[in-house]
Amino acid sequence: MKALIKPKEYFIKEIFEKEKEELFSEIWNFVGFTSDFAEVNDFVVYDACGISVVIQNLKGKIRAFKNVCSHRHSLIQTAEKGNRPLMCPYHGWAYNDRGIPFGIPKKPFFNFSKEDLECLKLEEYSVDICGSLVFLKIKQDETSLQDYLGNFFDEIEKMSNNFGKRVDLNEIEIECNWKIVVENTLESYHVALIHSETFQKLGADGLDFSFSKNHSMWNAEVLMKENEGKQAKVHKPFQERNYIIEGYKHLLVFPNILISSTYGISFNLSQIIPLSENKTLFKSFVFITKKEDESNGNGSVLEKVYEESLVDFNRKVFDEDKAICQEVQRGVKFSSYDGELSEEEERVLYFQQMYKKYLK
Ligand code: FES
Ligand SMILES: [Fe+2]
Repeated sequence: MKALIKPKEYFIKEIFEKEKEELFSEIWNFVGFTSDFAEVNDFVVYDACGISVVIQNLKGKIRAFKNVCSHRHSLIQTAEKGNRPLMCPYHGWAYNDRGIPFGIPKKPFFNFSKEDLECLKLEEYSVDICGSLVFLKIKQDETSLQDYLGNFFDEIEKMSNNFGKRVDLNEIEIECNWKIVVENTLESYHVALIHSETFQKLGADGLDFSFSKNHSMWNAEVLMKENEGKQAKVHKPFQERNYIIEGYKHLLVFPNILISSTYGISFNLSQIIPLSENKTLFKSFVFITKKEDESNGNGSVLEKVYEESLVDFNRKVFDEDKAICQEVQRGVKFSSYDGELSEEEERVLYFQQMYKKYLK
């Protein structure tokens, strides 16, 4: 089967600009975890297709606004994340939970009526939640997050609600187009050569793929059962948990979020953030499961050993992927062919089909 995304679509600047307009501004984008917005005034600033957006807990509700002051255009929140009222740092205009200026220093100088202030409301965007994940949509349409995630909504909700202690946040810059990184994660054909000393050892196998809306999932069998051999010991602290799967599960939340789990004991959420047509930020969060009783064995030596090996394993795998993705970026500029996809690369094909639906 021929690939649908042509080589030049991995390095041309105009395509990258089109993706912002026609893809990323249309879909639900993951912007953070509910824990990032736990307290009133907790905020995250997200670059949504070149627009700075502030997502903030205002009076207990998470809302999203264009992060630009209506007075004279300063950014309102200037840090990447933090806790601070929605107030412009330049002349001090403060905004209420609807994004309307309500605290204006030396207000009588302006002579604003109530209607004038309403007209200065910050542009608002949609925010919605699935489990512990917070999503943002720039386009004002009727597609709810639930519609967007389709049949995978429940699975994503369940998985993310079981993200317990975060044991790693790994951020790496990769010199390649974001689609090369996504596609790399969607097939296991490369595992034997690229991850021979790491992921290959898990022995994830099979073609149990499923698809819903734009997204895809792989349920893989693994070589070793959860409590086989020496695994029995390190997995012992996690036996009392709510989310249990047989082997390995890997989901793509289209177009650039990956969620995976092994046995329901460890979880990974990776965000593949396009920086330019040939540069990508790979942000990877590793969690261990929430345990029924968090006091039970928490911080035990056994658990520490498990956490360290988990972090080490993930980092090695991603470094291996980084290296090969950069080689693909170097090659794609000179390729004479469209690319070929096998049955094992079915999720890559599906990703490309969905991508083409958005890019006109
Ligand atoms: S630019 Fe924001 S208060 Fe003046
Ligand atoms: Fe890989």
